[in-house]
Amino acid sequence: MSATRDIRDTAEIGLIGLGTMGAMLALNIAETGHRIAVFNRTASRIDAFMTEAVAEDLARNIVPARDLPELVAAIARPRRILLMVPAGRPVDDQIAALRPLLDEGDVIVDAGNSDWQDTNRRASEAEAAGTLHLGLGVSGGAEGARSGPSMMAGGSERAWTLLQPVLELAAARFGQDPCVAHLGPGGAGHYVKMVHNGIEYADMQMIAEVYGLMRDGMGQGADSIARTFARWNEGPLASYVVEITAEVAAATDPDTRQPMLDVIADRAGQKGTGRWTVIDAQRRAAPLPAVEAAVTARVLSGEDEARGRGAEIFGTAEPLDLPEADLEGALIAAKILAYSQGFTLLAVAGEEEGWALPLPRVAEIWRAGCIIRSAMLDDMATALRDAPGERLAFAPRFAGLLRSHAPALRRTVAAASLAGHPVPALAASLGYLDTLRQARGTANLIQAQRDRFGAHGFERIDRPGETGFHGPWGAD
Ligand code: 6PG
Repeated sequence: MSATRDIRDTAEIGLIGLGTMGAMLALNIAETGHRIAVFNRTASRIDAFMTEAVAEDLARNIVPARDLPELVAAIARPRRILLMVPAGRPVDDQIAALRPLLDEGDVIVDAGNSDWQDTNRRASEAEAAGTLHLGLGVSGGAEGARSGPSMMAGGSERAWTLLQPVLELAAARFGQDPCVAHLGPGGAGHYVKMVHNGIEYADMQMIAEVYGLMRDGMGQGADSIARTFARWNEGPLASYVVEITAEVAAATDPDTRQPMLDVIADRAGQKGTGRWTVIDAQRRAAPLPAVEAAVTARVLSGEDEARGRGAEIFGTAEPLDLPEADLEGALIAAKILAYSQGFTLLAVAGEEEGWALPLPRVAEIWRAGCIIRSAMLDDMATALRDAPGERLAFAPRFAGLLRSHAPALRRTVAAASLAGHPVPALAASLGYLDTLRQARGTANLIQAQRDRFGAHGFERIDRPGETGFHGPWGAD
């Protein structure tokens, strides 16, 4: 504790980790009128942050702490401490350093992109130690953190009750409704954030595929592509990712005066949440083909050397011509199918984990603040509320949109395939739709093959309820 100043109990909440996201969230909370104590391991970062806070006239609501004991002492009890440190080991290390300084009933909020299973474990460990843990998925990037993110909370009722007033004021708003909710115990909030990111991957990949058709198939320049996306952002596709697509496509590289997009290397990074979503979906046998395709596409984007050689060996794609309305319709249909896959995964996981995830509320808190916010989410919330348990793609409003726009998706995928342009996520969503409308599928053949080589047995359509039939194959 400092000998020269007494900041005990001067703050209502604390925050550790003044990286970009942490700093923005701290300023946001300070602006809502809550006094927030902040600490960062590198002291120079605290000074830089305080300069920012002064510039934004928010310093009066911020209490900088020089070490962890000072931070903890500054916060009134029960203490609420937000961790904004990188996911994984740093979160555990930070909790281990904090816990001895905490009192019973204090709550640590992990607001990073943590693995939901780590959050489950940390919630149990906190309970055993007499403290509380809230796992908080925060979406919206730096801008969102500053002006209002969408936040997905998981943890005990008590932990939520302590944080709700602070988070509701800091969250994005859709109309009057704050985009934050308590979605279940333990890792439920981080789980929903993970699936959000999976959908984000699919959404971005499908847009990139359409961009590829415009650029490589139709020879359009970035400027014209920017104008098309800007137009689409006025219609059913209105969404944050479409909006920023128009923005980045219109940007010019200050060095070369080329369109910015044309000088960016075509290798996508990933921190891993999309991959986690796919792995989790596979474990639960919940189909997520658009996200799978998107994750695979990011991986393949890194194989640029192989792609160069492949182009020499096999030649590149040919020109194609598709009306703008088809490309727009393809994105509308594929987007609905990708979100539908994501919500189905949430339903399966919610049931398996015993979380009772409120899916309509999830759609509601995604309507503003987060990366996948889109004009469609309001209707999705209504559809999920009107028909609990129904998959989104079958809800009347979205089934209607799919009936109207699936032909455009089909024409787009077909034309792209004929001309040799890769559209793996669009094709995956189309395949998902076509499989869902194939009343008599082809797994009868799979079952026959399995029985033929492994005597695995099958069911018969003429003897429902009975199992373990075998075919008349060979000598076995
Ligand atoms: C958000 C974003 C955010 C971030 C991820 C995705 O919701 O604000 O999803 O969490 O951008 O880190 O990053 P990758 O594309 O690197 O996996």
